[in-house]
Amino acid sequence: MSGYRHAIVIGASSGIGHALAERLAKSGCRVAAIARRKDLLGALAEKYPDLVFVFEHDVADTETVPAVFQEAAKQLGGLDLVIYTAGVMPEVGAMEFCFEKDRAMVEVNLLGAIAWLNQAAIRFQNTRHGTIVGIGSVAGDRGRCGQPVYNATKAALATYLEALRNRLARRGVRVVTIKPGPVQTEMTARLHLRGAMSAEAAARLILIKSRRTGEHYLKFGHWLAFGIIRNIPSAIFRRLRV
Ligand SMILES: NC(=O)c1ccc[n+]([C@@H]2O[C@H](COP(=O)([O-])OP(=O)(O)OC[C@H]3O[C@@H](n4cnc5c(N)ncnc54)[C@H](OP(=O)(O)O)[C@@H]3O)[C@@H](O)[C@H]2O)c1
Repeated sequence: MSGYRHAIVIGASSGIGHALAERLAKSGCRVAAIARRKDLLGALAEKYPDLVFVFEHDVADTETVPAVFQEAAKQLGGLDLVIYTAGVMPEVGAMEFCFEKDRAMVEVNLLGAIAWLNQAAIRFQNTRHGTIVGIGSVAGDRGRCGQPVYNATKAALATYLEALRNRLARRGVRVVTIKPGPVQTEMTARLHLRGAMSAEAAARLILIKSRRTGEHYLKFGHWLAFGIIRNIPSAIFRRLRV
């Protein structure tokens, strides 16, 4: 049992978000599943007909977020969990600087998150309960050569979530930042990651960790390794390949 009864999952059509939505529905939670690919969301709704509600939505359309949020909460009949997991990480060449790709990452990974989670914050500060979960990444812990803007969006997301947590703690609202390491999903399929976790395993751990406000890595090894990596002086970090 997840313990949640009404949840919105933004980015529910594939990967970690799909696994989260399915796990929640399996536990009897009513889920508003939100993403652009309606067919994939529809397949989930067919599997859990009375529990999964489909909303076709592009998070880059930030002006429509308040209305979609209200409608989702209405159809669910309540709300105690909002998970923002929508994200993009396009392939970026070693010395490529492409503003269009960068803009897409900022729009989906950061601006969409702020648009959605501000709505969750407004609702939960009034109801004085609820859990907000943002899916960050270990990639946000340092600025690396490979993905400057992906790293930056995840760092900014973590700082935004920390501030929400500090604001909302006194209203009894949990704000949880999850920093996964490698997970096998569409996003990472081209990278042929070794030792990556399955999306289902990640979803299981995320729901467990969502019970405690704060910032969480999914593995103890990541917590330890990134505790060290975060503290490596820049002049040394520049020369390392981590
Ligand atoms: N996989 C990893 O190794 C890893 C590690 C650390 C963190 N993460 C983070 O985990 C989250 C989930 O990623 P994933 O690995 O599960 O990737 P994924 O399978 O590619 O899933 C990405 C999800 O984001 C949604 N999305 C993307 N653009 C959107 C848009 N404009 N509007 C609405 N929804 C949009 C996609 O839905 P539609 O395309 O249907 O819209 C999809 O549901 C991301 O935030 C990612 O940065 C992943």
